[in-house]
Amino acid sequence: PEVIAVLPAAGIGSRMQAECPKQYLTIGGKTLIEHSIRALLHSSNVTKVIVALSPHDTQFRQLPVASDPRIQLVTGGNERAESVMAGLEAAGDHGWVLVHDAARPCLHPDDLTNLLAISAISKIGGILAAPVRDTMKRGEPGAHAISHTVDRQELWHALTPQFFPLELLKTCLRRALNEGAVVTDEASAMEYCGFHPMLIPARADNIKVTRPEDLALAEFYLTRLYQ
Ligand code: CTP
Ligand code: MG
Repeated sequence: PEVIAVLPAAGIGSRMQAECPKQYLTIGGKTLIEHSIRALLHSSNVTKVIVALSPHDTQFRQLPVASDPRIQLVTGGNERAESVMAGLEAAGDHGWVLVHDAARPCLHPDDLTNLLAISAISKIGGILAAPVRDTMKRGEPGAHAISHTVDRQELWHALTPQFFPLELLKTCLRRALNEGAVVTDEASAMEYCGFHPMLIPARADNIKVTRPEDLALAEFYLTRLYQ
């Protein structure tokens, strides 16, 4: 079935401390956002990518990918969730939607395939997630000492893409935003409304480029992915 993707790309990348928003940093001559778009369009099910840009963005329209007919642009908001909401509003009212961070260029096609497969078995949707590797501790209030060890089996890193029925996600995200819930990913809006999205085990190298040292790591993973 056809799937629409929303790509939040309206952030400023403050933690990256670069000259430009991090989605426009390049690896192998291509910007991070182009790598992320390419990873989504690798699936023939993905027929449209709605890119949420800052109103001040001057760079996206200069990229070759901007003229791809499958790309649609919307203006994002001050928070990631608002940028995603703007994309969902533009996406129509049926089918399923993928939401993927522009800052995650290393998505593996097999993980995308595994995620897309859940629309056949779930009515709620789910997310790519990586099992936690370290022993995990909960700190005491103030976190200067350990309260106890948390069972690692229950802990996952939430990645993107995240994949949901479009109307259901739209309803949940709108409610979560209206009610001031903390929404750092799409699943948290679903959880806020009482749903339990699936966890789809995925490669941990689908990193979000966040800090300066992440760029070299993403370059390493990307080279391995496309060699
Ligand atoms: N994003 C967005 N709209 C915002 C904030 C973030 O579309 N108002 C996007 C970013 O462009 C990025 C993704 O959401 O692709 C993940 O956010 P994050 O890694 O936090 O990126 P930034 O907000 O740009 O970085 P920072 O928090 O360091 O400023
Ligand atoms: Mg941010």
